[in-house]
Amino acid sequence: MTNIKKRAWAEPFKIKMVEPLKMLSRHERAGALREAGFNTFLLRSEDVYIDLLTDSGTNAMSDYQWAGMMLGDEAYAGSRNYYHLEAMVQRVYGYKYLVPTHQGRGAENLISKILIKPGQYVPGNMYFTTTRLHQELAGGTFVDVIVDEAHDSTDLRPFKGNVDLGKLEALIAKVGAAKVAYVTVAATVNMAGGQPISLENLKAVRALTAKHGIKVIFDATRAVENAYFIKTREAAYADWTIEQIVHEMCAQSDGATMSGKKDLLVNIGGFLAINDLDVFEEARNLVVVYEGLHTYGGLAGRDMEAMARGIEEAVQYDHIRARIGQVEYVGERLKASGIPIVEPIGGHAIFLDARRFLPHLTQDDFPAQALAAELYLESGIRAMERGIVSAGRDDATGKHRYPKLELVRLTFPRRVYTQAHCDVTAEAVEALYESRAEIRGLEMTYEPKYLRFFQARFEPKAG
Ligand code: F0G
Repeated sequence: MTNIKKRAWAEPFKIKMVEPLKMLSRHERAGALREAGFNTFLLRSEDVYIDLLTDSGTNAMSDYQWAGMMLGDEAYAGSRNYYHLEAMVQRVYGYKYLVPTHQGRGAENLISKILIKPGQYVPGNMYFTTTRLHQELAGGTFVDVIVDEAHDSTDLRPFKGNVDLGKLEALIAKVGAAKVAYVTVAATVNMAGGQPISLENLKAVRALTAKHGIKVIFDATRAVENAYFIKTREAAYADWTIEQIVHEMCAQSDGATMSGKKDLLVNIGGFLAINDLDVFEEARNLVVVYEGLHTYGGLAGRDMEAMARGIEEAVQYDHIRARIGQVEYVGERLKASGIPIVEPIGGHAIFLDARRFLPHLTQDDFPAQALAAELYLESGIRAMERGIVSAGRDDATGKHRYPKLELVRLTFPRRVYTQAHCDVTAEAVEALYESRAEIRGLEMTYEPKYLRFFQARFEPKAG
């Protein structure tokens, strides 16, 4: 028995309920893709075989969470599930006050409206689409202060989500601390490929901003995934529990916005958590305008219960190790086949580097959009563009923003797909890589004003 290789992880659950999958023929997929304007966001879920569009709200809940759904207290005010959620947020994330919201962007709206005065700047470790838009709608200007290597898909440094302290300091020196509304710090930076921030860097950001009296607002959406990377990559925290690391990360900030649809293993839900009583009072008042009363914030009691129980499960080491292990498994397979992906492999997704995958296309051909469309056509697998379409247009000039990273995100829902699905996915990408020279660029035929990537339509370029 000495030759048996030990796996580092296996799924710490078994499957109790299944949802059948259907696979269309290539001809049917071609029709569905045309109807969707070559935008994977506009496909019907029923026409998708393996859905790697997002890890947001696509989680499989546990029996413990489903049981909690039956204990929903659907009172308009003062639901007991609110108090359970509040206690769990206080225990794991460590903030004093909680305002639930229907999802992450609800919390982003509240904090942007409360803390940003028109004309102020909001530095952050790379933009996220909804976060930046709410900052802009509140009259702020986002400034990217992430380390340079975050924009390089081949740089192997372990914490490519770090804030570049020099860039942050230079901004404060240039505009003055009074013109900086706050700093947004995101965990496992989504648009950089799911790259983590170190605790050392979080502490340094805290020290620098404290000197200037500037608040730090943490995007804790994937903080648990980030904590796993800290545990495995930052020696000082190797013996800490995931919960302790999450707590320590949050302690470097004044508050957090949260999309519970990721780490917290639910299908809907989010919150704003904050330490400052004045900000809390304003948020508690404003949430009534946009979401609902401050003890439900647009959620049903049962949703809050599922999220409270999700927090408990999310910080279990076996869970997070298997979750990140699955993503790593697909990434390592693709790397072995020579397929260009963002490295190191991120927490929630594999990001194909469309620039290197399709070197014959220019960024104006929307290469990542084209690659995501082709992956669906050839395999029925749905992924998402994270490149020039997602970056949108510059407010001042009206021109496309040209991000350095032009990526296709294969995002893994938590506890949903099996290792065989992972193998099918890797095989599909490998086949696409073989025939990459035939993939043509796209032309945008319809462009909505806000967050255009969700609803834009395309057609293949002639030729
Ligand atoms: N912050 C980050 C880092 C996110 O990834 C998201 C959502 C949000 C905030 C907004 O949260 O969707 O609940 O309103 N990301 C999803 C994704 C949409 O597919 O990456 P939300």
